[in-house]
Amino acid sequence: MRKTPVTPVQVTGTVLTTRRVDAYHALTVVAPGIAERFRPGHFVAVAVGGPTTSMLTRRVFSVHDVKPDYGGTVEFVFAVRGPGTAWLAERRARDPLDLVGPLGRPFPLPRDPVTCVLVGAGHGSATLFTVADALQGRGCRVDFVLGGDSADRVFGALRARRMGETTTLTTEDGSLGMRGRVTDVLPGVIADVRADAVYACGPLETLRGVTAVAVEFDIPVQVAVEERMACGIGVCMTCVLPVIGDDGVTRMVRSCVEGPVFRGERVRFDDVGTIPFDALGAPGGGTRNVG
Ligand SMILES: Cc1cc2nc3c(=O)[nH]c(=O)nc-3n(C[C@H](O)[C@H](O)[C@H](O)COP(=O)(O)OP(=O)(O)OC[C@H]3O[C@@H](n4cnc5c(N)ncnc54)[C@H](O)[C@@H]3O)c2cc1C
Ligand code: FES
Repeated sequence: MRKTPVTPVQVTGTVLTTRRVDAYHALTVVAPGIAERFRPGHFVAVAVGGPTTSMLTRRVFSVHDVKPDYGGTVEFVFAVRGPGTAWLAERRARDPLDLVGPLGRPFPLPRDPVTCVLVGAGHGSATLFTVADALQGRGCRVDFVLGGDSADRVFGALRARRMGETTTLTTEDGSLGMRGRVTDVLPGVIADVRADAVYACGPLETLRGVTAVAVEFDIPVQVAVEERMACGIGVCMTCVLPVIGDDGVTRMVRSCVEGPVFRGERVRFDDVGTIPFDALGAPGGGTRNVG
């Protein structure tokens, strides 16, 4: 059963530490209120550019870690991509940082102590460690499959090796682990560990592939999508994607509030970026009675 979202808060946090982790930057921010509400899979929306900026929209990041220190800290990990992340990469300890969170729906966790494979690609791996922690707290076995374009873009390999029963790494250029993608090795890992469930975060293409593998093995798969988000709080509709509901009807749902975590087989990956003609309320699709 899906849990009710927690109420997010806006916090003027303080940067506690900054560090480089290969191709990524990690920012730990004192953000009481967010840390205590956090559950694995939540994300935060960060104001970038300072008080006079033209960068009006917040940038959203998965939470990599939370700690009780200093009343509650959250850490997120990012690669520099455009002006917002470039500004964040210049933040230093004691700088103020405006955050809203925790946002989104977290990963549902199994009731029983089952075997779970956690699949991450690029910075998508960052969100998996709090999931792993929660799963292990329930007695679940955790195995990792992490990948990236190159060795410096595989996030969290060392931590995965410490936490996971097994860790399989892939890089597209072969500089670390097996050459290829996470989806190339996933069938072997699922079979070897006799996985009961899969959790994944990464680019849409990866999530599509991971879902296809899990469906082939007939095991549940939870994916955290990263659709472009302008508001992160359900107002602007930039983040919608077609998802099949319990009633079999496709709806355009907001991945910031109804997601970012979805059952993989419910996401119509082939139709993301469009409004499928059979989606509820689609232009020209007519109306239907859904009870
Ligand atoms: C739920 C979620 C979790 C994310 N977690 C992480 C993370 O842990 N680490 C990380 O490096 N990145 C993450 N991203 C992507 C991150 O939000 C973008 O890289 C960032 O917003 C880019 O901002 P920019 O100004 O540097 O780049 P620009 O490309 O200049 O951004 C311009 C605008 O597009 C939006 N945008 C651009 N790329 C993305 C994207 N991929 N997803 C969503 N919005 C985007 C920005 O919010 C901004 O409004 C996540 C995205 C989502 C939706
Ligand atoms: S990002 Fe605005 S509704 Fe989802």
